[in-house]
Amino acid sequence: MIAAEVRGLSKVYNAGGSRAFEALKNFDLSINANEFFTLLGPSGCGKTTLLRILGGFEALTEGTCTIFGQDVSRLPPEARPVNTVFQQYALFPHMSVRRNIAFGLEMLGTPRAETERRVDRMLALVHMSDYADRKPDTMSGGQRQRVALARALAPQPKLLLLDEPLSALDLKLRQKMRLELKALQRETGITFIFVTHDQEEALAMSDRIAVIDKGRLQQVGTPEDIYENPESRFVADFIGESNLLDARVSAVNGGEAALIVEGFADIRAPIGRPLAVGQLVSLSVRPERLILREAGQDVPGGIARVVARTYLGNAVEYHLVAGGQTLTAHAPRGGLRGLLDFVPGDTVSVGFEPGSIKVVSS
Ligand SMILES: Nc1ncnc2c1ncn2[C@@H]1O[C@H](COP(=O)(O)OP(=O)(O)OP(=O)(O)O)[C@@H](O)[C@H]1O
Ligand SMILES: [Mg+2]
Repeated sequence: MIAAEVRGLSKVYNAGGSRAFEALKNFDLSINANEFFTLLGPSGCGKTTLLRILGGFEALTEGTCTIFGQDVSRLPPEARPVNTVFQQYALFPHMSVRRNIAFGLEMLGTPRAETERRVDRMLALVHMSDYADRKPDTMSGGQRQRVALARALAPQPKLLLLDEPLSALDLKLRQKMRLELKALQRETGITFIFVTHDQEEALAMSDRIAVIDKGRLQQVGTPEDIYENPESRFVADFIGESNLLDARVSAVNGGEAALIVEGFADIRAPIGRPLAVGQLVSLSVRPERLILREAGQDVPGGIARVVARTYLGNAVEYHLVAGGQTLTAHAPRGGLRGLLDFVPGDTVSVGFEPGSIKVVSS
């Protein structure tokens, strides 16, 4: 079943005015029921706008928006089976934490004993049991954020929209809450649409991720898909780290292309779409998939000069220059490659693990 769907969606702020701005451009997206779905992209790309349209807090300019099969394009927020945790957590200032969380349940006419039981459970979940009687303005940003989360979860909506709900938490608590939120989503079967600009958070929590840039949908897929098979330079660069190389197609043979990359020989990559001989393309290779050897040792690839070495604890990062292009390599500590250590000024042989080179669109 599909929980939420937008078709041909666009959003223009100040439409018709001199400051008209198109925040979302021709969006098509389907989110499955029971899915932990993440909207990921840099600041200003349109994540909050899309979430507010789904929640009914912002009108769409063109297209349709459906929730559990019902066209909700013209429905007010309270008529949608949806709860929202806003980026700016809006708690009722005059109510205690307990009453804030109970509010939605009371509105639904939940019996008092059941309400109290659920509130207690939510308080425990977000580690706020000791704060039940406090007022929001006596708490830190992270504490308020956790209460906002508990309040939205308590009535168990069919669809929960979460706009950067962990952003005010410190790293340790954020990591812990990631796991708990994910477990809670599994347990309750509530569909989560989760907004973040933190790619690590997105990879760790999501069933699928939509990557957005400048109001346009770039790619939708599982975390593994998005990381292993980025389709564009933007996605390769935004999700994790990537080496992006300029290349020219020299031959196409079945599902494989031979590529000319300055400073390298014998570069080949599988291709998922038609490419023409002579065409300019970009290649993406993850830093952990570079192979470094002492100069002269034969690896299919090229010769590079080490320009910097940075100790990262679990790995060593090398910056290399090969054929006028800059590359980053991560060599794990202790592994086979960890036995080698290079210093700036060294010349090394550099190659790529089989299957690690991806052709991406520019
Ligand atoms: N009410 C508004 N009027 C005009 N422009 C707006 C309005 N709200 C948002 N925008 C613009 O639309 C674009 C998308 O904004 P949005 O809040 O959706 O971004 P975001 O991806 O949530 O960013 P962030 O990660 O910083 O929260 C931005 O360029 C923003 O300036
Ligand atoms: Mg936002």
